[in-house]
Parts: sequence; structure tokens; C-alpha cells
Amino acid sequence: MTGKLQNPLNDLDGREWLYWTDTLYITTYPPDATHPLRKQHGAMKPPEVMAEIVRFFTKKGELVLDPFAGVGGTLLGAALAGRPSLGFELDPRWVAIYRAIQRDFVIENGVICRREEAVTGGEPLTGEMREGDCLCLLKELPAESIPAVITDPPYGINHGATGFSKETNFNMLSPLLENDLGQAPDLASFLGRLQEIGQEIRRVLMPGRYLVMLVGDRYQQGEYVPLGFLVAQAMREIGFKFKGVKIWSNKATRRHLKPYAVKSVFVPNITHQNILILRKE
Ligand SMILES: C[S@@+](CC[C@H](N)C(=O)[O-])C[C@H]1O[C@@H](n2cnc3c(N)ncnc32)[C@H](O)[C@@H]1O
Repeated sequence: MTGKLQNPLNDLDGREWLYWTDTLYITTYPPDATHPLRKQHGAMKPPEVMAEIVRFFTKKGELVLDPFAGVGGTLLGAALAGRPSLGFELDPRWVAIYRAIQRDFVIENGVICRREEAVTGGEPLTGEMREGDCLCLLKELPAESIPAVITDPPYGINHGATGFSKETNFNMLSPLLENDLGQAPDLASFLGRLQEIGQEIRRVLMPGRYLVMLVGDRYQQGEYVPLGFLVAQAMREIGFKFKGVKIWSNKATRRHLKPYAVKSVFVPNITHQNILILRKE
């Protein structure tokens, strides 16, 4: 007997696996070459962070699904990690930006760069994006066919820009698209609709594999809304096992602290996001 454990989940060695179990996850990725295009969205994720998540929850060559794909952070991350990917996105604006990135950028030496700057011609960004409501598109996928779902749903309801005029985050909302989850009339219906989508995710996910969700907490009407944990609880109620959370903050792009109610009442500057790790058991 060699005593070596088989690793059915990823291609990491024991040290790399252990490192990634830390619940505190501080990264330092500066904006990449596609950022000027992707930042129109306002809730886009760094491809390098998404690549790290993809590398933990899949083996090389396994398909990654993102039902709320935006301008393609997960799809670009999957390409960096050498995994095929499929994204669903409701808003044609974001789909068009992702397709422009696919047209104009490639991967060379493990980095996304402009096609014309690639000395070797580079590798194409292969992730496929489908436009539409993820609830309908998920229903087209066969049961137990997806090795990993890694996604970043809308952050609850009423997520327009805050009182600070230069705030650019949360531009992702699509007021004209009624199936936009962020248009749900209240938090209860947001969570209810997310559960409906979660049930489809659970159906298509292979047994023993993971749903990973990036969810930011909120501060609304004078109160902290622990959206990450509300979403985790909603996913537990439909059968997922909540395995843990990584508290993520990207130092390189973190915005400055804002003087919310200084010397008056405590108001947090929320500089982290929750990476929820849920398993189909
Ligand atoms: C937080 S953003 C995802 C950002 C993405 N991770 C990226 O890096 O660009 C959530 C996305 O979900 C999309 N969305 C909302 N409701 C949807 C639905 N019913 N079907 C598909 N996409 C939806 C929004 O348009 C938005 O782009």
C-alpha cells in the first residue's frame, strides 16, 4: 500500500490543496488587459481569481458552467486554467462585450493579451456564451452532466449606484429585462427565484461536485444585510450542503474607504466578498 490518496476533484498536490482551505483569501491582481472593456459592467471578477477557483473545483479539461456570466470573468478564468466553459447571460450588452474580448484577445504565456501583441499568435479564449434567461437555458442541459458551477449572481435587490456620485459598481442591473434576478421586488422573492435556479443547478451538477457562489453582503436602509449567508441558507434549503466560505478581498483593486457616518454611527465599508462553497451530496 502506498498510502497515497487519490484526488477525484482537482490536479493540486496536498500543499496546494491545504493552502486553498484558508478561509481568508486576499489577492493582489491588478486590472488585466480586458479590464477597460469589462469595467462597463461594474461587477466583473478578475479572471485570475476565477482561474484559481476553477483550478480547485475541477480537473484540467472539465467543463465549468456560469449561469450568471456577465462579461465573462469565469469564462476567461476557465480559459486561463485550461478548462472549457459555458456561460449564460441575460443582457445582450454584456454578451457583446464578452464576444468582443473573444475576438480581440488571446492567451499567451498564461496571460490574456491583445491578439495583435501575441508573438506566437496565442491561444483562443474558448468559453462559450449563450444569451438568455439562465433558468430556461439550464433546463436544456442534461441531468448530472456538469462538473462545476462557479458563479456570481446579482447582489440582491435595489443595487443601483450608492449616494457617492463616482460610484461605478453595480452597473450590472438591466432595468428593461424583467427576468433580471436583481429586479426581484423584495429580498424574499430574490431568494425564492434564486432557489428555483439553484434547483436546476443541482439537477445538472454531477453528484459530489460543487456550486461556488461569489456573493457580496450589503448595507441597506441603516442595516447590514448578510446576503452571503442568506444565499447559503437558501441553497441549503434546496438540498445543497454548505461546506464553507472564503472571505475574499482583492487588495489591488480595493476602493478607498468612504467616510460613511464618521463620528456618528458605525457603518461598515464592505471590502470583501463571500465565496460560498456548496456541494451536491
Ligand atoms: C454579478 S454579475 C456577474 C459578473 C460576472 N462574474 C463577470 O465577471 O462579469 C450578475 C449577472 O447576472 C445577470 N443576470 C441576472 N439575471 C439573470 C438571469 N435570469 N439569467 C441570466 N443572467 C442573469 C446580470 O445581467 C449580470 O450580468
